[in-house]
Amino acid sequence: MFDRSLKIAPSILAADFADFGRECAAVEAAGADWVHVDVMDGHFVPNISFGPETCRAIRPHIKTVMDVHLMIAPVDPYIEAFADAGADILTAHVEAGPHIHRTLQAIRAAGVRPGVALNPGTPAEAVESVLDLVDLVCVMTVNPGFGGQSFIASQVEKVTRLRKMIGDRPVHIEIDGGITPATAPLVVAAGADVLVAGSSVFRGGSVTDPAPYAENIRAIRASV
Ligand code: DX5
Ligand code: ZN
Repeated sequence: MFDRSLKIAPSILAADFADFGRECAAVEAAGADWVHVDVMDGHFVPNISFGPETCRAIRPHIKTVMDVHLMIAPVDPYIEAFADAGADILTAHVEAGPHIHRTLQAIRAAGVRPGVALNPGTPAEAVESVLDLVDLVCVMTVNPGFGGQSFIASQVEKVTRLRKMIGDRPVHIEIDGGITPATAPLVVAAGADVLVAGSSVFRGGSVTDPAPYAENIRAIRASV
C-alpha cells in the first residue's frame, strides 16, 4: 500500500562489509524503514561495491524492504539476477542507457517495483515520460560512487519540480546523498518521502554497539 510518510533507508555502503547480515538486522532494530543497497560496477560510476550474490546473501537478514540502487551500465542483462536475489525495488539510472523505458518495463515484468534515478547534472524533465512506469524517483544529491560526500543544495528545486510533475501518481521521491539532520528538512519540505542515509546513520556505532544507529535515525526523523 502506497503512503508518503517519511521513510529512512540506511545505505549499507557505510556498514561493515564483513558483516552485512548483522548490520542489516541492527539498523532495522534501530528503526530503519527500508535497507538501501548500493550496487556499483566501476564503469557507470568510478567505484565497485558488490553484485547480485551479495544481495541474495543479505536478503534473509532484511525484514523490511530491500531497496536496490543499480549504479551499473548496462542494466538489462542483470535484472533477472537481482530479481531472483530478492530485491523489492530495483532502481536504474536514466543516464545508464538509451532505453530506460524498456528497462523499467523489464523490471516490472520481473516482478520487482521499478525506480528511476537522476544524477545531479540531469534535469527533472529527463524522467517525465516514464513517471507512469515507476514506483519511485531517486534524486541524487551527490554524484554517485561514494558515501560521505556533501549534499548538493541545488537539487532541492529539482525535488519540488518532480513532486509537481508526479501529481497524484503513487510515486515515492527518494533522496540519496549527504542526508543529515541539517539537510533532511530541506528535501522533505520539497516533497521527498524516502531518505537514504549512509554515513549519518552508521557513524559512531557497530553491530556490537548499535545504540548510535538508533540515535542517528532518531535525529534525522526529529529534524523534519
Ligand atoms: C552514492 C550512494 C549513496 C551513498 C549515500 O553513490 O548511492 O547511497 O552511499 O551515502 P551518504 O549518506 O554517506 O552520502
Ligand atoms: Zn544509493
